[in-house]
Amino acid sequence: MSENIYLPRMATIKSMRPETIDVTTFQIALNGTNGESRFDYESGQFAEVSVLGVGEAPISITSSPTPPETLEFSIRRVGQLTNALHELNVGDKIGIRGPFGNSFPLKELEGQNMLIIGGGIGLAPMRSVILNLFDNRKKYGKIDIIYGARSPQDLVFKSEYEEWQNVENTGLYLTVDRGDEEWKGNVGLVPNFLKEINPSPENTTGITCGPPIMIKFVVQALAELGFTSEHVITTMERKMKCGVGKCGRCNIGGKYVCLDGPVFTLKQLEEMPSD
Ligand code: FES
Repeated sequence: MSENIYLPRMATIKSMRPETIDVTTFQIALNGTNGESRFDYESGQFAEVSVLGVGEAPISITSSPTPPETLEFSIRRVGQLTNALHELNVGDKIGIRGPFGNSFPLKELEGQNMLIIGGGIGLAPMRSVILNLFDNRKKYGKIDIIYGARSPQDLVFKSEYEEWQNVENTGLYLTVDRGDEEWKGNVGLVPNFLKEINPSPENTTGITCGPPIMIKFVVQALAELGFTSEHVITTMERKMKCGVGKCGRCNIGGKYVCLDGPVFTLKQLEEMPSD
């Protein structure tokens, strides 16, 4: 992290890969004074991404900290800053502060089966976990990935699914809310699909990220399947602004999402006051 946590470091956009009509994956290289092109980070952390004259926003890191050493953000157009980012081109400069927040406790989860459940752009921080698990494949049991989006066109990282499915002892289960003539996969909501797949909770931790309404019903479905709240982990990014515990926008009771999170076990969330 830079010494001044408020000061963005300049970075260059190396590539922009369209994922859907409104989601693009940006590969970034820091213009480090010592020649470094990225900072060290862990899966689950986020950075503040800025466009000069427009503003900045907290964005989760999409790439894995494992080699090759890249820094990627998959960003959906949802407001002024993200619209401005989508208008940029390869070679343009942006600002980056970070990395911030805690991370998924992947070291502690070694030896377990991993159940990844994502919805929409919520697969962005999950992709960092998925690639990290694949790069440490022998340390984990079965990896199941359940992912859904509104339509086939809204599924992100489509170009990587074949590779993911070919990783040993890994299952990828896709669903969409509404199919089209070409869609041959499942049609239905993620929580219902999860119950149909019926994964065993034995020695398994579920990690989920997506729209709040999906998370709510995924958590209920996991409880029905026998997952305890210590073995359900989620990441929260809404409400964050400064990223460093100063603006007070992200507090839940005595916790700050930007400092104590964004990654929480369901047990930790249950112990916080409802807001
Ligand atoms: S984002 Fe400002 S205090 Fe957490």
